[in-house]
Amino acid sequence: MDMLMIQLEKDSKIPLYEQLYEEIKKGIIEGTIAVHTKLPSKRKLSEFLSISQTTVELAYAQLIAEGYITSKSRVGFFVEAIEELAYVEKTLPHHAIKKALNPQILIDFNPGKIDTSSFPFTTWRKYAKEAIDYHEKDLLLTGTPQGELGLREQIANYLYQSRGVLCSPEQIVIGSGTEQLLPMIMKLLGEENQYAIENPGYTQTHHIFSQYNQQVIPINVDEDGMQIQELEHSSANIAYVTPSHQFPTGAVLSASRRAQLLNWAAQDEQRFIIEDDYDSEFRYIGKPIASLQGMDHRDKVIYISTFSKSLMPSLRIAYFVLPEKLLSRYYNMFTYYTSTVPRFEQHILAQFMRDGYFSKHLNRMRKIYRKKLEKLTHALMPYAPTVTISGEQAGMHVVLTVKHEMNASTLSNIALQHGIRITPIKEYMLAPTIQNREDQFLLGFGGLEENDILNNIQKLMDCWNIQNTFR
Ligand SMILES: Cc1ncc(COP(=O)(O)O)c(C=O)c1O
Repeated sequence: MDMLMIQLEKDSKIPLYEQLYEEIKKGIIEGTIAVHTKLPSKRKLSEFLSISQTTVELAYAQLIAEGYITSKSRVGFFVEAIEELAYVEKTLPHHAIKKALNPQILIDFNPGKIDTSSFPFTTWRKYAKEAIDYHEKDLLLTGTPQGELGLREQIANYLYQSRGVLCSPEQIVIGSGTEQLLPMIMKLLGEENQYAIENPGYTQTHHIFSQYNQQVIPINVDEDGMQIQELEHSSANIAYVTPSHQFPTGAVLSASRRAQLLNWAAQDEQRFIIEDDYDSEFRYIGKPIASLQGMDHRDKVIYISTFSKSLMPSLRIAYFVLPEKLLSRYYNMFTYYTSTVPRFEQHILAQFMRDGYFSKHLNRMRKIYRKKLEKLTHALMPYAPTVTISGEQAGMHVVLTVKHEMNASTLSNIALQHGIRITPIKEYMLAPTIQNREDQFLLGFGGLEENDILNNIQKLMDCWNIQNTFR
């Protein structure tokens, strides 16, 4: 092969050698560069593409390291047969198809995103270094299945002070995410249960419950949270709720419904409440509402929360707090398993919390998210009453109601064609809801840049042809 015609983007954030490596690799996998082909020499290719010889050298070195090409001394570089890398061939077309079907996302209103620009990397690095410097031997061995005692102590303290959760570290179990802990809770609660879940609700729990063949009963949610009367008329014996900031509607479970829910649970030995308190750290309006767990005097609430929102979703650390009466069952069933969270991470987090950095981080992030929410509310004002906002008391997402001749699914597809991701509430529904939610969207704002919010909203409204009434 005399030459390789490759388009490189010199202004891209991706280094040139990586672009070159990716393009050649793609050619080899897709067969446009045939097996045994001799590639152009480093000098010739660098001259042809007007890039440095080092760039080509780095790209070729990576391809050699991954087995795509070989170097024959004084002869040149040759493409290898890659049948052995069957997994590459299998995954690539799928990936390529997905990319073609899903236009590039330029504005992402995904609720799972957090603000990544304010993470205290320096402090985190300090504790990570300390964990290695001072505890290396100890932390190499597996710890307690329940999670590190030091971290459980910090969590117990934090929960008492900020959420009114009353528990000892012995009641806390740490695991790698809510989604890994929920199946554990299900196993603890036994086989013959019927789960009431919020409708609309957190889709991840719908998947988990159905994967574990649990019977689920969708219960409607209104502006005061789960409708407890409907729960009372159902055959469910376990209620999964997000009372501080219902996902996805943002409703806060009212005080009277909290009491009703606890009373419902108290009426039968087999009844329990799973309280998912995933984003309660970020409350903007009014006083924080104490957890259901703190109000419970009958050992009926299993409290579950996560560091995915408050710190980072990639940390994969969440925890649940068991009522004392379920502890012996937990010890009988789960002490054979090793903790799913690496000890190093648990240790770093414990020290970070112990020295007050977690509270500082939360205070800082609360201000940042509050500002983002203000910008968002402000940006949406000119589009009222066509577009209204709700569920903005807490968290990192709100609900948009859009009065439009097209329904939310069509509007969401239109937005996607413009590179904007916004999800209709309908996608979080397990069954049709009493309240019409055809015109509602979930809008996550945590990952948006504060200064881009106005522009992001304008673009969304423009693509839906909704007029700015202030202009
Ligand atoms: C309702 C709810 N629960 C829990 C979580 C966090 O899950 P995990 O701990 O698995 O990251 C989220 C994240 O978006 C959520 O929306």
